[in-house]
Amino acid sequence: MFDRHGGGDAAVLVSLDFGGKGYEDSLTELRHLTVSAGLEVRAVVEGKRAKPDAALFVGSGKAEEVAAALRESEAQVAVFNHELSPAQQRNLEKTLACRVADRTGLILDIFAQRAKSHEGKLQVELAQMEHLSTRLVRGWTHLERQKGGIGVRGGPGETQLELDRRMIRNRVKMLREKLAKLAQQRGMQRRARKRSGVLSVSLVGYTNAGKSTLFNRLTQSGVYAADQLFATLDTTSRKLFIPECGPVVVSDTVGFIRNLPHTLVEAFGATLEEAAQADLLLHVVDVASPAREEQIAEVNKVLAEIGAQDVPQLLVMNKIDAVSMTPGMERDEYGKIAKVWVSAEQGAGIELIRQALSELHQPHTEQMRPIPATV
Ligand code: GTP
Repeated sequence: MFDRHGGGDAAVLVSLDFGGKGYEDSLTELRHLTVSAGLEVRAVVEGKRAKPDAALFVGSGKAEEVAAALRESEAQVAVFNHELSPAQQRNLEKTLACRVADRTGLILDIFAQRAKSHEGKLQVELAQMEHLSTRLVRGWTHLERQKGGIGVRGGPGETQLELDRRMIRNRVKMLREKLAKLAQQRGMQRRARKRSGVLSVSLVGYTNAGKSTLFNRLTQSGVYAADQLFATLDTTSRKLFIPECGPVVVSDTVGFIRNLPHTLVEAFGATLEEAAQADLLLHVVDVASPAREEQIAEVNKVLAEIGAQDVPQLLVMNKIDAVSMTPGMERDEYGKIAKVWVSAEQGAGIELIRQALSELHQPHTEQMRPIPATV
């Protein structure tokens, strides 16, 4: 989506406060997302409104301000901290005479850059195609713009638009079929693991919480970890052996984020299903983040969306080194380890996670766990 030749593009961020909670956090996050997408943040235009403007989202006065900020800072992209309707995006692109990205577009772009596995790439492409299909309307495809033949039914522009639409439909169908096949294979592998009594553990958590670092610590493998949002996109699974409880398969999953675009939750369904089918979720939390409580809630919201709300969770409070804390654990009312404080980077407290995993397989702790209300 963004052109990264010659040192990368520069962006102006646009963020409106509608009076809701977490405004500052969402703007901080947008900055991180923008940098993660390879863009340099040159200016931020903020404002307050009661509700979005139907045509331009920000209203014409504020749009002028954004246009001036783009000119002054010589930025090429305006990044909105919101969801824009296809019409708003088009109107803004015309008014500002530059590329306009909304939050979903930005996240999709990051996902596209980061996807590594074959399945991950297909999933991102599916989400992009579906996002694009809602934006592909008359008067917008590049070909039609060049010809300027708007409004003539059956004219060259219209034909091109139909072709584009058909191409996207076919591609979406093909991607869905390929992904369904891969999901089937994944399901088979999972059932085989279940039959052999292997404990399956999935790492979940807000993006940048430290899942990959913990995964590496636990499995001593070299999965990519970087201080970027969404460094990990694909599920990576590794087997490890814990003397007290035998073989365990640990899977690293995609990073969660507030308002995770729905197209992405859907496209990443198979990957996220790994979490829904796990015996235990290690919910990794960045204790150094002031927004950690909201992040925990967001992760739980996505988990509920994918049907993983009833999978037992161990809260892993990570990055204790950054807040000068020492490793520790907390048990719930049934005596089960519910929370551990660790530093994945420094390796502190990792044995507590191993202990929690081994207790999960101990018959006496099983008895102490609550009896499910429904069978
Ligand atoms: P996504 O792939 O975006 O979902 O991120 P992630 O949750 O997999 O996070 P990752 O492991 O990539 O870590 C994010 C950043 O936090 C990296 O810069 C890590 O070095 C850093 N980090 C991870 N664990 C710790 C820790 O225990 N202490 C400190 N201080 N930093 C950590």
